[in-house]
Amino acid sequence: MNQIIEKIHTALAAAEQRLTAADAAEIEAVRIELAGRNGLFPALSKEMGSVPPEERREVGSAFNEGRRKLQELLDAARARLEERGSTAEQLDLTLPGRRRSMGHKHPVTRMIDECVAIFRRMGFTVAEGPEIEDVYHNFDALNTHADHPSRDPGDTFYFADGRILRTQTSPVQIRVMENHEPPVRIVAPGRVFRRDTPDATHGMNFHQIEGLYVDRGVSLADLKSVLQTFATEMYGPGAKIRLRPHFFPFTEPSVEYDFSCMMCGGKGCPVCKHSGFIEIAGAGMVDPAVLKNVGYDPEVWSGFAFGMGIERLAMLRYRIGDIRWLYENDVRFLEQF
Ligand code: PHE
Repeated sequence: MNQIIEKIHTALAAAEQRLTAADAAEIEAVRIELAGRNGLFPALSKEMGSVPPEERREVGSAFNEGRRKLQELLDAARARLEERGSTAEQLDLTLPGRRRSMGHKHPVTRMIDECVAIFRRMGFTVAEGPEIEDVYHNFDALNTHADHPSRDPGDTFYFADGRILRTQTSPVQIRVMENHEPPVRIVAPGRVFRRDTPDATHGMNFHQIEGLYVDRGVSLADLKSVLQTFATEMYGPGAKIRLRPHFFPFTEPSVEYDFSCMMCGGKGCPVCKHSGFIEIAGAGMVDPAVLKNVGYDPEVWSGFAFGMGIERLAMLRYRIGDIRWLYENDVRFLEQF
């Protein structure tokens, strides 16, 4: 057989082999070797002149057939490559699966859920009120008169229409009592807003959980027992509580209450400033003036109310050193809970 025809056959057989599983670079390499400017086919075409006339027909048609065959091989290889790229590669069953990350509740939400669960077990139901509140519910109905410092625009966010961002969850007490006959026993978790300068223990908005229990013959002893039960459920059997006299316009008598320090177990440490106790919130017996404001007869009904800072509870529970970390949305922090 003519030498040229033999070269074409050998080259095509080798190309076919190389192209079976070729990537883009390999396909291009084969193309250049055979059909490129300095490749096999252009070289053979120059040799054509020296072919004896009687063989020229045969060699010529083998040459054309060879070039056609090469194009076919290259096209097929490219098609296979594309096919692999679009399906086979995505379906590589040897790759490890991609885990979908589920996320979880924010520590503040978790703390609200835990508080609510504890109070539900004591027979409280959950109530809610608006974050944009009117001055009557946030202040007046709570016996907080116009000259009270907490109503100062320097302490409270006012809207142009006179409404405010509520400074406490206590207005929910009023809304519940306005709409329900006694007895009532509710907790109201929610967001509150104050013009505080943010620092390690203060934010401009934070969360409280309010409690209100009004019935016949409710006393400070009931308040104390509910708070003690809550402390034990939340922080364990060693948790102690302490009530200190205080003043709130809407409770009489009023107390602030502390839980024994969870960091040192009440022995005294820098976190509790060596007192063994940490301030949690305010509470007291609902002032008769407040009961009158909602149409309850203070001669028949009495009750207690309390409000706790959720972030405070969470910081103690999870040992968080700075309240601002709760709102920076840094997953490296949030992932730890
Ligand atoms: N609302 C009060 C505060 O934000 C706390 C409180 C609630 C006090 C209920 C007494 C009764 O400081």
